[in-house]
Amino acid sequence: MEQRRGTFRKQVAFLLAVVLLDGALLGTAGGVAGSFWGTHTPYATSRGTGLAAGSVAAGSTAPETAVTADGSLAGSTPEVPKLVALTFDDGPHKTCTPKLLDGLKERNVKATFFLMGENIVGKEDLVRRMQEEGHLIGNHSYRHIQLTHAGEDAVCEAIEKTETMIEEITGVRPGYLRPPYGDWNESLECRMNLTTVFWSVDSLDWKLKNTKQIVKRVKKETGEGDIILMHDIFPTSVEAALQIVDQLQSQGYTFVTVDELLID
Ligand code: NI
Repeated sequence: MEQRRGTFRKQVAFLLAVVLLDGALLGTAGGVAGSFWGTHTPYATSRGTGLAAGSVAAGSTAPETAVTADGSLAGSTPEVPKLVALTFDDGPHKTCTPKLLDGLKERNVKATFFLMGENIVGKEDLVRRMQEEGHLIGNHSYRHIQLTHAGEDAVCEAIEKTETMIEEITGVRPGYLRPPYGDWNESLECRMNLTTVFWSVDSLDWKLKNTKQIVKRVKKETGEGDIILMHDIFPTSVEAALQIVDQLQSQGYTFVTVDELLID
């Protein structure tokens, strides 16, 4: 349900440059520049700063260490948590989303949900619950269409409508947008005062619909600072997400909402 498009070439290249300059090239970011489908593309754009930075801390900020005469490590070497973000698009879903929320709550994990306006109707309680349980709620527009084909006014209206729906339920106006299919361009961006969030690991959960395969793929692709794309509208995705949490937590990862990974 999500697909990269060539319109982001410039942004990708730019972020890659930012990341390189920062010395924080993520282990898997090498495949970014030429590919827009199914590869790591760790970036986000921020309306506020005009640039974006899906770049994340841990890789570039590990403290220097020194070895003392007796071979032990000197200075402070506090454990830098390995941060990762789970994101769920296209919901809320009547049965899958509550199940996911239960599992996340049991594990004390916070995630990010990019909600589709038309799916919110009748499921306001789930939206309220997401907020009460500490998840970040973002905007996935009103319907699942390619925004660059819709015309600027229609796009802004659809996004605005979803903003208002969420705000009326939670009292908080979402600050983050994930365009359906990752389909976006700069002319749309200049109208919306939202931070656009893409992803760096595509679980392909919508296509695989197989818990084991989703878990395997995400585990293989994920490193620190990654933003994992999933959809809380399939039972296999919910089951996979919870297994991913358990397995990555056991490897020392901490799950955070995307606002904790993005610099804006
Ligand atoms: Ni979607």
